[in-house]
Amino acid sequence: MKKFINFIKFIKFFILIIFLWNIIIYLIHFNEEKIIINSKSKTLIDDNEINQKYCGINKECKFLFAYHVPEQETSANFHFYSFIQLAELLNRTIILVNVQHSRLSSCNKFPFNFYYNVNEIKKMFPNVNFITQQNFLNWTKERYNKPITIHKYIKQEGNPLILNTNHLELKKECLDQFDLKFNNNDDLIINNKTTINLGPKDVWRTYSNNILMIDNLIKLLNVKEEVLLIRHLLPVPLFPSKGSVKKLPYANHLIEGTNHASDQF
Ligand SMILES: *[C@@H]1O[C@H](CO)[C@@H](O)[C@H](O)[C@H]1NC(C)=O
Ligand SMILES: *[C@@H]1O[C@H](CO)[C@@H](O)[C@H](O)[C@H]1NC(C)=O
Ligand SMILES: *[C@@H]1O[C@H](CO)[C@@H](O)[C@H](O)[C@H]1NC(C)=O
Repeated sequence: MKKFINFIKFIKFFILIIFLWNIIIYLIHFNEEKIIINSKSKTLIDDNEINQKYCGINKECKFLFAYHVPEQETSANFHFYSFIQLAELLNRTIILVNVQHSRLSSCNKFPFNFYYNVNEIKKMFPNVNFITQQNFLNWTKERYNKPITIHKYIKQEGNPLILNTNHLELKKECLDQFDLKFNNNDDLIINNKTTINLGPKDVWRTYSNNILMIDNLIKLLNVKEEVLLIRHLLPVPLFPSKGSVKKLPYANHLIEGTNHASDQF
């Protein structure tokens, strides 16, 4: 009989232990969940703060990155002018891409203002926001949720200049230094889905067709992704219907040392 009572006591004790154990497990798990929820909303709040730091009052940052401007400086100058116009049409902040060896590309070492007078360019485009490549880099590094990115390539029919690659090579274009996030790897393939074909040059550049082309381009490039990487190998400015292209003004130190300017490029 006594044995039996002891056995019952033991069973009770055992059940109590199991019960307590479950409560402990529940509490630990509950706290973990709370911590996860807290850190999740914290990163979103922090990303908003980071965006505000780099993009002003907007809690959202939307960038246009012409990461590889075609041709040498004299032509790259008017190409970049077109890209600023495009950024204005799309309400995107344009990244002032780095410069070196008379070229404008993300692989270069010097900041944009080594070649160009950014204050004067801002006066030419009062509605456009600008960010340096370095600050853009810092933005991508600081963000908790890495910015979603999309790549578009613009071509024209019969363009003698065509890309020698069928996909965006992040490393070769020095885009791997930025903490960007692509929704899927297909976005890096350069095919009809990611390419915008303007048609033959003689057609899209006439005044009325160019106006239609601009409407179309805005529709095709009005994407939700925070970073729009864009590239073309066109030999001409994109928007002839918007008037003649003005030359982007050079940095003061280049103008002052005109004799040495060619060395700088
Ligand atoms: C850009 O902003 C202007 C003015 O706020 C607006 O009219 C236009 O539709 C916007 N364009 C795009 C592509 O969002
Ligand atoms: C960008 O980040 C680097 C490294 O964190 C820092 O040294 C640099 O000052 C930052 N640049 C700007 C312009 O904030
Ligand atoms: C896509 O490209 C292929 C060739 O790569 C072509 O045959 C096809 O017609 C194109 N599709 C569209 C919708 O343009």
